Amino acid sequence: MPGIGEMARANRAFLFRAVRHLAADAGIRQFLDIGTGIPTEPNVHQVAQAADPTARVLCVDNDPVVISHGRAFAHSTPEGRAAYVLGDLLDPDAILATDQLHETLDLREPVGLLLAAVLSFFDPDEGATRTRPSRGSSTRSRPAATSSSRT
Ligand SMILES: C[S@@+](CC[C@H](N)C(=O)[O-])C[C@H]1O[C@@H](n2cnc3c(N)ncnc32)[C@H](O)[C@@H]1O
Repeated sequence: MPGIGEMARANRAFLFRAVRHLAADAGIRQFLDIGTGIPTEPNVHQVAQAADPTARVLCVDNDPVVISHGRAFAHSTPEGRAAYVLGDLLDPDAILATDQLHETLDLREPVGLLLAAVLSFFDPDEGATRTRPSRGSSTRSRPAATSSSRT
């Protein structure tokens, strides 16, 4: 696809700016990164932990290869946490029910919800009816999302 390299670089640049802003300026110390993708350098947790070494990141993907690579290669600071769990953006209740989510994130505190280059994987009408904010989550939580389109 023409321009895909530029699109991928622009997506990652936005994602890192968003995480840096949320961690450094908005006081967000924990992130839920759904559709996290194969680990690259830097990873979301490295960007967040550069702003605050205690930052905690739960990475979710529906591809088991992504999850096994993440667990093998993504290393957190000792004070923070980077965890990986298999999950589907279209089944948020299952993600919210995982032990990994509750071991990594405190949903009473603000969460940065990251949906980078994943929304284009499914029909927006279907997604809109199957995803919803979590009851009881902090109102100071913030979303950051990207989606590509051909014009
Ligand atoms: C293009 S990559 C984006 C990776 C990373 N977020 C980024 O911005 O560089 C999309 C990722 O979303 C995952 N994905 C696609 N549909 C998903 C779904 N329904 N639930 C969770 N992950 C999904 C894919 O397996 C892939 O790893």
